[in-house]
Amino acid sequence: MSDRILIIDFGSQVTQLIARRVREAGVYCEIHPFQSVTEATVRSFAPKGVILSGGPASVTEDTTPRAPEELFENLGLPVLGICYGNQTMVAQLGGRITISDHQEFGRAMVDVTEDCVLFEGIWAVGETHQVWMSHGDRIDALPEGFRRVAKTESAPYAVIANDERKYYGVLFHPEVVHTPQGGALLANFVHRVCGCDNAWTMEAFKQEAIAKVRNQVGDDRVICGLSGGVDSSVVAVLLHEAIGDQLQCVFVDTGMLRAGEAEEVVSLFKGHYNIPLIHVDASDEFLGKLDGVTDPERKRKIIGATFIDVFEREAKGIGGAGFLAQGTLYPDVIESVSFTGGPSVTIKSHHNVGGLPERMNMDLVEPLRELFKDEVRGLGRELGLPDTLVGRHPFPGPGLAIRIPGEITREKLDILRKADAVYLDEIRSAGLYDAIWQAFAVLLPVQTVGVMGDARTYESVCALRAVTSTDGMTADYYPFDHTFLGRAATRIINEVRGINRVVYDITSKPPGTIEWE
Ligand code: XMP
Repeated sequence: MSDRILIIDFGSQVTQLIARRVREAGVYCEIHPFQSVTEATVRSFAPKGVILSGGPASVTEDTTPRAPEELFENLGLPVLGICYGNQTMVAQLGGRITISDHQEFGRAMVDVTEDCVLFEGIWAVGETHQVWMSHGDRIDALPEGFRRVAKTESAPYAVIANDERKYYGVLFHPEVVHTPQGGALLANFVHRVCGCDNAWTMEAFKQEAIAKVRNQVGDDRVICGLSGGVDSSVVAVLLHEAIGDQLQCVFVDTGMLRAGEAEEVVSLFKGHYNIPLIHVDASDEFLGKLDGVTDPERKRKIIGATFIDVFEREAKGIGGAGFLAQGTLYPDVIESVSFTGGPSVTIKSHHNVGGLPERMNMDLVEPLRELFKDEVRGLGRELGLPDTLVGRHPFPGPGLAIRIPGEITREKLDILRKADAVYLDEIRSAGLYDAIWQAFAVLLPVQTVGVMGDARTYESVCALRAVTSTDGMTADYYPFDHTFLGRAATRIINEVRGINRVVYDITSKPPGTIEWE
């Protein structure tokens, strides 16, 4: 087992970034919400160190989230407290926190006052460095055994250290890019303080994942739905390496795929990888069940349930399968664990997380549960998948259904498929595909008047969407130049019958979402 770090989450918006930075340092880590962490769970996870995340609470309130007392009493592990995590550590160890009369949000400068193992190779005494702050409380008195190693104008104890117990605390957020040397500081903690090696590579992950899958599945069969996207393709190739012919891939044509998708998937997996693949045309079944349905969540539920019907039928066809493989990723897993412990608001039931019907007869195999999207891409490369596939934009399980607000018909799907293909063709020819996280066309349920060849038209509006993102959780619209947008719009209107107007969506996420439904 590779060396590991436990991150205890107090609900900061950027806790995931701590995990990313630690993994970039070559160390495996997991995020656990503070309520779920006990001495027993820490011992069974067996970390070499613990990081306490930031969070929205203030230690000065009456009841606030706390790290388990055993962490400081019995476990003897190195601890790094970040922002709120630092404050609760200080308070729990007998220091004093007060509400600051000068809150610090955003960019701040720290003065390095003493040497510290966290600063090795990056910061020297007497230097000043940029960090990113987001706090309203300050430390007034340090607990016993601690010394101050850096300060800011308004925070006398910006970084503190207790070298004997290996406890360190930073008031700023080293995990965000606005703290330029923050990644190196976290790497110092995991390597120099905790003594972790940097053995967590994709090669190591691949070997561990293969062993886990073999152990879970035994000699049973696994059905894997291939969508043509990166996640399901990586799952399929990984499972094929793990269990060979016990894997049966199923490619379901829902009738709501993009142009040319079915052909590409079949030729890659059957032709290139020689992975057993059943190609099911279930478009009548999907579209029949969606007839007249306009509500986005009902669309997702119907599609999720129909996928399972198809998979179960196919499983029967091959004499039974005990498992269904899914490309669930780490952000889905973390997002479905609510920080408050109460039910969190469902924005969309992404069907590879919460939307599976309860009556499903197969158990899930989810070998990517611990990975971020860019790590999945790394694993894909490790498995030898071609760059064109590894770099593909994400495509949602419900397909074009959630890009046609309102009722879905075959005619609308045909129109959208054509517009989407022209748009992506323009993006590729402009050399922009890899700079964009996801780009697609949406067919609006709105008709507008136009004039083409001296005649009046009354046809649909097509919206174009393109976003940049690192994980799909936040996103910004892509700033195309006007010449590009004009060219794409002209081609769509000229080449796609049924569309006479094109608009570009400039909403970020939040407040929008990436998909329109
Ligand atoms: P949103 O629209 O929530 O999308 O900002 C974030 C990312 O998730 C994809 N997405 C889905 N994927 N089933 C999926 O498998 C779904 O129901 C679904 N809805 C959105 C979306 O394409 C984007 O990459």
